[in-house]
Amino acid sequence: MSWNPERYLQFDDLRLRPALDLIGRIPCAAPAKVVDLGCGPGTVTQLLAQRWQDAEVLGVDRSPAMLTRAAQSPTAATKVHWELADAASWRPKQAVDLLFSNAALHWLDDHPTLFASLAGMLTPAGVLAVQMPANFDAPSHRCIRALADGAAWKAQLGDARMGAILTAAEYWRLLAALFRKVELWETTYWQRLTGAAPVLDWLRGTTLVPYLERLDAAAAAAFVAALQPALEAAYPRETDGSVLFPFRRLFMVSQFRR
Ligand SMILES: C[S@@+](CC[C@H](N)C(=O)[O-])C[C@H]1O[C@@H](n2cnc3c(N)ncnc32)[C@H](O)[C@@H]1O
Repeated sequence: MSWNPERYLQFDDLRLRPALDLIGRIPCAAPAKVVDLGCGPGTVTQLLAQRWQDAEVLGVDRSPAMLTRAAQSPTAATKVHWELADAASWRPKQAVDLLFSNAALHWLDDHPTLFASLAGMLTPAGVLAVQMPANFDAPSHRCIRALADGAAWKAQLGDARMGAILTAAEYWRLLAALFRKVELWETTYWQRLTGAAPVLDWLRGTTLVPYLERLDAAAAAAFVAALQPALEAAYPRETDGSVLFPFRRLFMVSQFRR
């Protein structure tokens, strides 16, 4: 996927908050090996390195642009490394004490197989901590799918994928079969966005990436121009001109491998 780190980081405060909420629930005292799967521009990886300063921290991502940005980020600890790899096939060299992933695993398929594989990478007392968006039925996402599936765009965008997750109950059952302790929760972040096309700008950093990368510059401009009125209608302006963009996210922290 063609990720653009600067565009993604445009909303870094809002994108960081769920990661902080997830880190706050991780019960590890002194993990030796920490992995951040789908680490993106490395901002959150550095937070992990700050929290566990003696740990060896590895950020894994399949986007060269994101990893280049990550390697430029100020390093909190000397033991932070980066690896270019697809999380679907990546395997650690040694068992991991904390396997962390923020806003990335929804891009991967077959979560029953994936989560079983992730559990198998952990030390017996290891922790799996994951956050994924849970807003695939939000108006923003329905607008994108409706447009991409319409006659004008279906040939080019019909197979584009915005990621997917299971239901919370399905993750509960899946994780409870793999771990002795599972914590699962959802939070809706009521995000206030500003600007001429605030929801579109937000979506361009993530959800729209697999759509726009299939189009040349002119077609991409035409697609976002067609999307913008639908987003404006779905997210009316507040009296101060801002837009409220609720964003639901699913969190899970699991420990003690079975
Ligand atoms: C929304 S960003 C999240 C970045 C980071 N975790 C954060 O919280 O800021 C999603 C990241 O997942 C990465 N990604 C998507 N699919 C991936 C895969 N199969 N393997 C590795 N990384 C992947 C993308 O390249 C992107 O950097």
